Amino acid sequence: MDVLEGLMTQHRVAEHFFKEILAARAPEAKERLLRELVDKLDEHMDFEETIFYPALEAVDSSLVEHNYDEHQQAKPILSALLGMKGGSPEFMDHLTRVRSLIETHVRKEEDELFPACKTHLDTAALEHLGIEFESWGKGQHQTRSPHRDHHHPSP
Ligand SMILES: [Fe+2]
Ligand SMILES: [Fe+2]
Repeated sequence: MDVLEGLMTQHRVAEHFFKEILAARAPEAKERLLRELVDKLDEHMDFEETIFYPALEAVDSSLVEHNYDEHQQAKPILSALLGMKGGSPEFMDHLTRVRSLIETHVRKEEDELFPACKTHLDTAALEHLGIEFESWGKGQHQTRSPHRDHHHPSP
C-alpha cells in the first residue's frame, strides 16, 4: 500500500465524519459518529507520530516539527467533545474549532509534507512505511478485517 495514499484516504474519511456529525439530527447519533471519528483520528495520529513523522525527522527534523504540536492542539478538544451532549452549543463550538484546526493541518500535510516525502525518502523507505501503515491498524484496532493471514508485530 502507498502510505501517502493511505493517509490521504484517512483524511477524506475524517472530513466525511465531520459532515456526517453536522448532518445528524439526534444528539445520540452525533455522539456515536464523534466517537467513531475520534477512534479513527487516534489511529491516524498515532501512526503519524510513531512511524511516519520520525521517518521524516531522520532526514530533516524541520519537516515535521510543527506537526506534533498541531496534533497536541486537537487532542484535548477531541477528548472534551467526548464528554459533551451531542448538538449542545459547547459541542458545536468545540466541533467547529477542532474541524478547522484539523482541516488546516491536513492541507499542510497534503500540500507540503507529502510532496516533500517523495523528494526526501527513497522508494524502499516509502515501501517500508506502506507496510507499517497496513499493519498498524490491525494490531491496535478491531475496525479492520480480522481475517488477514499475515501479521506484522506492532512496532
Ligand atoms: Fe497529522
Ligand atoms: Fe494526517
